[in-house]
Amino acid sequence: MKLWGGRFEKTTDALVEDFHSSISFDRRLYKQDIQGSIAHARMLGKIGVLESEEAEIIIKALGEILDDIRAGRIEFEIGAEDIHMNVEKILTERIGVVGKKLHTARSRNDQVALDLRLFLREEIDQSQDLLAALIRTLLKVAEEHLETWMPGYTHLQKAQPLTLSHYLLAYVQMFIRDLGRLKDTRKRLNLSPLGSGALAGTTFPLDREMVAEELGFDGITLNSLDGVSDRDFALEFLGAAAIAMMHLSRLCEELVLWSSGEFQFVIMDDGYSTGSSIMPQKKNPDVAELVRGKTGRVYGDLMALLTVMKGLPLAYNKDMQEDKERVFDAVDTLQKSLLVGEGMLRTMQVRKDIMAQGAKGGFTNATDLADYLAKKGVPFREAHEIIGRIVLHCTKHGLGLEDLTLAEYRDFSSAFAEDLFAEIKLEQCVRARKVPGGPAPEMVAKAITQSKVELEKLLG
Ligand code: ARG
Repeated sequence: MKLWGGRFEKTTDALVEDFHSSISFDRRLYKQDIQGSIAHARMLGKIGVLESEEAEIIIKALGEILDDIRAGRIEFEIGAEDIHMNVEKILTERIGVVGKKLHTARSRNDQVALDLRLFLREEIDQSQDLLAALIRTLLKVAEEHLETWMPGYTHLQKAQPLTLSHYLLAYVQMFIRDLGRLKDTRKRLNLSPLGSGALAGTTFPLDREMVAEELGFDGITLNSLDGVSDRDFALEFLGAAAIAMMHLSRLCEELVLWSSGEFQFVIMDDGYSTGSSIMPQKKNPDVAELVRGKTGRVYGDLMALLTVMKGLPLAYNKDMQEDKERVFDAVDTLQKSLLVGEGMLRTMQVRKDIMAQGAKGGFTNATDLADYLAKKGVPFREAHEIIGRIVLHCTKHGLGLEDLTLAEYRDFSSAFAEDLFAEIKLEQCVRARKVPGGPAPEMVAKAITQSKVELEKLLG
């Protein structure tokens, strides 16, 4: 007999039983479900809806059920639909009629909203820790490469020289913002919906604040319809996760490129690479590629839940049962990707020599030469034009900017003098970019210190 069977004359069709049951996946919420039930029972005992001994019996039995589930001693039933009714059924089997009182002044609608908030809160904390670990590793690698010169790109064409340290700090900033987004999500999520009932609250004089406090919430939701029917907290998490995955996928794409035979900027550790079943020479950056690929899953999770929620009338609709698998998938994908991403960066080897070589050529110092003329009083737009012509000349003759003589330079502009050659040296080009946020090693060292402060502030 179903927990809701009173109104029915026939049993559920076997197909429907399978179709609408969620226990195969929402069993993952067992801990949160039991935590919530314990807080609810304790509160019912305090306000006198349950005798205090009844509340004690329920709380003790729920604790035992939690232990038994953890130890793998419990088999859930599809017939009991979801985790909420499975737990309640087991409770009643164990303690009899008292167990049937637990669901007083509660609905599965506020129960499931509560469970998912509790679950996500924990997973957000875990994701923040993993993001912090990734950021710390990036900072550590950055500290070692303040003077590792490399080419910067736009359109994947060599643009201007910078350092690996500066490059990695760009990702540090992105991941710090991701951390901030998760933190904001957690703050808005951390309100207890319990007491919303099915949609219209309850006639019982519940102490919602007491439950909220026991469960570590900052307060309670203010509207019973909203409490059971919105999932924006889950969408915010999926949004933050999708953006973090997007950042991670870009970093992974760099590693795929950089570890190629054409670039050879980095050597991926054997532990983070895989081979080919036919080509004996191959060592592939599969881990980076897979993180890049898995980003698509998390985007899918976000789009799926946005679509599920679109146009749903208030309040609860069964459509919303579709939220959980999307959230679980995004949590797992994000956390595993952060974990392997950190390991990949920590173990990779940097080819400083090849990076520095790559920073040369491709006229990466052309802007510096234009700046040089501008500093001598030539209007920048004219300087740009002059250097453009010099680059064209060099390209035709297979030369670099450092290969021309002063006399040749002076054919293009009389503003050129001997000091130009110092200005276009690779190192000088980077060292001179001392603007705050720029790649000069002294500025990057400052930015590393500031990033560490930012990180600790976010985590604190
Ligand atoms: N398994 C359901 C879900 O995940 C729980 C809430 C069901 N409520 C209901 N009235 N059918 O959404």
